[in-house]
Amino acid sequence: MILHFPLLDSTNNYAKTQIDQLHSGDLILAEQQTGGKGRLGRNWLSPKGNLYCSLVYKNQTCDISFFPLLCAVAVSHVLENILNLPIKIKWPNDLVVEQKKICGILCESIILSSQIHVICGIGININTTAADFASAELPYATSYSILTGKTCELSFLAEAIAEEMEQILAVFSQKGFAAIKPFYESKLVNVGKTVKVIFQREELIVHCLGIAENGNLLCQKEDGSIFTVNSSEASVRGLYGYT
Ligand code: BTN
Repeated sequence: MILHFPLLDSTNNYAKTQIDQLHSGDLILAEQQTGGKGRLGRNWLSPKGNLYCSLVYKNQTCDISFFPLLCAVAVSHVLENILNLPIKIKWPNDLVVEQKKICGILCESIILSSQIHVICGIGININTTAADFASAELPYATSYSILTGKTCELSFLAEAIAEEMEQILAVFSQKGFAAIKPFYESKLVNVGKTVKVIFQREELIVHCLGIAENGNLLCQKEDGSIFTVNSSEASVRGLYGYT
């Protein structure tokens, strides 16, 4: 079922509060959000003209920590195939074009009566102008219209993402993340680069080797030691910009 709203505080919040009424695979779309949420407690700029949607997956029994990576793969397929954009993934699940962010993904889960429900929130910048990003102090953001001068049909894009996500989830449940990891890594912009890993209290300059089997970022320190980083504990930046 597709639920289309002119205005919501947040499509993720709507899905969470209405979860009893929703079914697996349902798609919540809003034309505008008043309280769009980003990762790590940030806000998500949500004026009219961009895509804001949440996909609902109920009663999940698989390892839900992979959902952000699966969602990044699904959305990158769609943006490449339908919008013809050369998408890269910035770990864990930002989608970037020309080193700027075009899409953010916020996966949340709730447990009700011992059942785990996952909500995948997706925000894609379609029509925001460079001037709007500048006045919102978002120097590392871009949009489809900035990149191409074009616009696109938002609900068509959202439905294509829902379909792609179904296919990726089917592969994931049959074969596990190992079947999806090569594609994810082939798109990962951080691989082979020296990056800054930003923890709450410290920053480390490391060489990025890829991702581990569990989706954590695989890093190597200058002394050669290898360690992994979980997306809940740190974010990553390039040394001279966003990627
Ligand atoms: C991020 O990169 O920080 C994640 C941004 C996720 C934004 C989307 S917009 C639709 C859905 N509803 C929300 O409130 N957030 C997500």
